[in-house]
Amino acid sequence: CPLPPPPPPPPPSLLPFNPHRSLKPADRNKRDKTSRVFCTTSGVFCRKSASSGGAWQLEAGNTCYFTALAVVLKTSDEFPSTDEFSKVELSCLIESISTINPRIEWKKIINNKPSYVYFDKKISGDLENRAVIREPATLVITNATRSDTAKYRCEVTAADDTKSFDEIVIDLVVRVKPVVPKCSVPKSVPFGKTAELSCVEEEGFPKSQYQWFKNNEEIPNDPKTSPKFFNSSYTLNTGTGTLTFTAVRKEDAGDYHCRAKNDAGQAQCAPQNMEVYDIDIVGIVLGVLVVIIVLLCITVGICCAYKQGYCSSPKQTGNNYKVPAKGDGVDYVRTEDEGDFRHKSSFVI
Ligand SMILES: *[C@@H]1O[C@H](CO)[C@@H](O)[C@H](O)[C@H]1NC(C)=O
Ligand SMILES: *[C@@H]1O[C@H](CO)[C@@H](O)[C@H](O)[C@H]1NC(C)=O
Repeated sequence: CPLPPPPPPPPPSLLPFNPHRSLKPADRNKRDKTSRVFCTTSGVFCRKSASSGGAWQLEAGNTCYFTALAVVLKTSDEFPSTDEFSKVELSCLIESISTINPRIEWKKIINNKPSYVYFDKKISGDLENRAVIREPATLVITNATRSDTAKYRCEVTAADDTKSFDEIVIDLVVRVKPVVPKCSVPKSVPFGKTAELSCVEEEGFPKSQYQWFKNNEEIPNDPKTSPKFFNSSYTLNTGTGTLTFTAVRKEDAGDYHCRAKNDAGQAQCAPQNMEVYDIDIVGIVLGVLVVIIVLLCITVGICCAYKQGYCSSPKQTGNNYKVPAKGDGVDYVRTEDEGDFRHKSSFVI
């Protein structure tokens, strides 16, 4: 590169080039992929810098220019997002163009398959009546739905430009509020056993995160971080909504509810009670019950035996028996007046 003369004023068809970009010698008089010409004339605006190891660089104060005979798009937001049933703009701005009447198209891309959204100056498909084009090429969706979450491609064809086509892809996310989650809380759990509480909600987008509450107090992700839950044995998975106790304690009993939450909103299920019972107490109660039943049986047996002993000879004629003896020690006797069955010990204790 020869030593530069003072830079001339830019020709009218040239626009300033970003002076912070470093250039390689091969870039001279060439266009980059957006068809910008780096240096318009033979090295006039660029100089080999000693410090840059041979790369072509702009010197401070120098300006490089590129031709504007190209359509160049840009966007103010490549990743817009909105809540369902709200308005959203897919911005497609034309940074440079020479053609008066460019052709503008929008395509929606799902699983790499494009379908028309705006074609021949008309909104088509699913977005019909829900979207408009705002100058120059921005697509405005007036009432976004969850099915609008997709990539959209703005394509502009400018016949009179040297580089006559450019496109830009916008990635739209429509957030959907969670619905009331389905919560499952075991009603009663034996002391020391495992218990699993689950909470699921499928509508929310992005996917819901879950919080659990016990007696309206949020359960921390890690029990060790809270003096109140310190001794509890649970693990909480905020992504799946599962709260698992490896060994429930008496103190774990309470009213539990869960909340599903995402950027669009939240929803929660009604509290459900989880009871913790002691197996030993149940054992004791059962034992006592068994003893009482045995005592009752013995008492009844003795009574019957006495009754039979007192009344055996006149009543036991044999023609009262409708059902033959079953050999299980119990006979069914149809009483003459009522017609209902009573059972009677057929042997003497
Ligand atoms: C948006 O669409 C939904 C369902 O299609 C409808 O219920 C709602 O009224 C619409 N909102 C507006 C502002 O048009
Ligand atoms: C946790 O257990 C320890 C030891 O058993 C006990 O000293 C402490 O008071 C318990 N903490 C709570 C909050 O129950």
